[in-house]
Amino acid sequence: MKSFYESLGLRPENRIEVRALAKRLKVKVKELDLYQQNHILPFEHHMAVIKGTLGISALQLKIRMGIFDSEVYEALLRNEELLVTSVTSSDKEEPRGVHSPEYQTKYGTLYQGDCMEFMRQTESNKYDMIFADPPFNLDKFYLSDYDDNVSHHSYLRWCFSWLDECVRLLKPGGSLFVWNIPKWNTYLANHLNQKLLFRHWISVDIKFSLPINSRLYPSHYSLLYYSKGKPKIFKPDRLPMEVCKRCLSDLKDYGGYKNKMNPLGVNLTDVWYDIPPVRHNKYKRRKEANELTIKLLDRIIEMSTEEGDLVFDPFGGSGTTYVAAEIKSRRWEGIELGPLDDVIKRFQNIKEDERILRKYRSNYNNLFPPKIKAKRMQLRLWTDESFDRQSNTTPNAI
Ligand SMILES: C[S@@+](CC[C@H](N)C(=O)[O-])C[C@H]1O[C@@H](n2cnc3c(N)ncnc32)[C@H](O)[C@@H]1O
Repeated sequence: MKSFYESLGLRPENRIEVRALAKRLKVKVKELDLYQQNHILPFEHHMAVIKGTLGISALQLKIRMGIFDSEVYEALLRNEELLVTSVTSSDKEEPRGVHSPEYQTKYGTLYQGDCMEFMRQTESNKYDMIFADPPFNLDKFYLSDYDDNVSHHSYLRWCFSWLDECVRLLKPGGSLFVWNIPKWNTYLANHLNQKLLFRHWISVDIKFSLPINSRLYPSHYSLLYYSKGKPKIFKPDRLPMEVCKRCLSDLKDYGGYKNKMNPLGVNLTDVWYDIPPVRHNKYKRRKEANELTIKLLDRIIEMSTEEGDLVFDPFGGSGTTYVAAEIKSRRWEGIELGPLDDVIKRFQNIKEDERILRKYRSNYNNLFPPKIKAKRMQLRLWTDESFDRQSNTTPNAI
C-alpha cells in the first residue's frame, strides 16, 4: 500500500510539494497531514475537492492506500476474471533453511538477522506457538539500528508482512500472540481476523508512557491471542485470590460465594493486573532491549503449549521468550537483528531466571499460596479449608 501523499503523486518528505498541493486544493496543510499521519481516507468534503482538482476518485485512492472496504470489494468481484487472468502466479518456492545458527542450547536455536528473511526460508506449519513483540514505532533506540520512526503506513505494511509469515509458519492448532500498544493492535487484529481464529484481546495493565495532554493516560498493553483452528492446547494457570498485602483480608468479593471458590485458584481473565514492568536497570539485561518480564512469557507458554512443543519468537531482544521456553522444556527457535551477546550471557546465568520463575509459579493454582494460607488461618480469616463443601455449611472463620 502507498501512503496518502504517495497516492496523490507527492514525495511525503517534501514539504514544498505538500504546501503547493494544499494551496491548490484550498485545504490546510495540517488537515492533509492528518490523513497522511494516520493513514485514513480524506473525509467526504476533502475527497470531493481531490476528485474535482486532481481527478482521483475515492475508489482509486482506496486501492492505492490499501483500504479495502465494501466498495473496493464489490469492484474486485465485478472484475474477478480479468484480475485473476492478468495476475501472474507467484507460486515459486523460496530456498529453505539457508540461515546458520549462532547459538544452541539443549532445547533451542538462536539465529542473527532479519526475521522476514528467516521466516520466508522456513517451511510452513512448523511452530506450535509464536510470540511476537516487535518495536512499536515509538522512535526508540535499538542497538540493531532498526529505524523505529517510520510512517504509519510503512509500519503497518511491515507488520502485515511478518504477520502473514507467522500465520503460514504456525501449525494447525497452534497459537499466535502479538504484543503491542492498542493503537497498532487494532490494525493487526483486523488483519489477523481474516486469517486465524480470534481467541482474546488481553489487556495487560502496565503504564507505558507519561500522561499526555488531551488524551487518557495510556495504561495497558494489548496482547492479541489467535489460533490456527481449534487450539491444540489451552491450559491457563489459575491465580491466587487477591488479598490485602498488610492485613491479608479479602480485596474483592468474587461473586460472594466463598464456599464455591475453587481451591485451585481464581480463573484467569482477559485483564492481567499482575504483570510487572521490567523497569529497574539492575534487573534489565539490556537497556535498549525493552525486555519483558519472564512472568508474562511463562503464562503464555504454560497456557498454549506442552513440554516438547516448538516455540518461535521473531523479535528476540534480550531473549525472554527463549529463556522461558528453555526452563519450561519447550523447544524453541528465535532470531534477533541486533547483537546476541546479552541473550547468550543470559543463558549462561539461566539459574537466575529459573529462580525468579520458580518464585512466580509457586503462587499459581492455589486459592491461597501456602504462607498466606497459614497466616490467614492464624488471623482466623476464611480459607478454602473453612468450608464443609458437601453440606455447604457456613464457615467457622470469616
Ligand atoms: C521490543 S524488542 C523485543 C524484546 C523481547 N521481547 C524481550 O523481552 O527482550 C524488539 C526487538 O526486535 C528486534 N528487531 C527489529 N526488527 C527486527 C527484524 N527485522 N528481525 C529481527 N529482529 C528485529 C530489535 O532489535 C529488538 O531487539
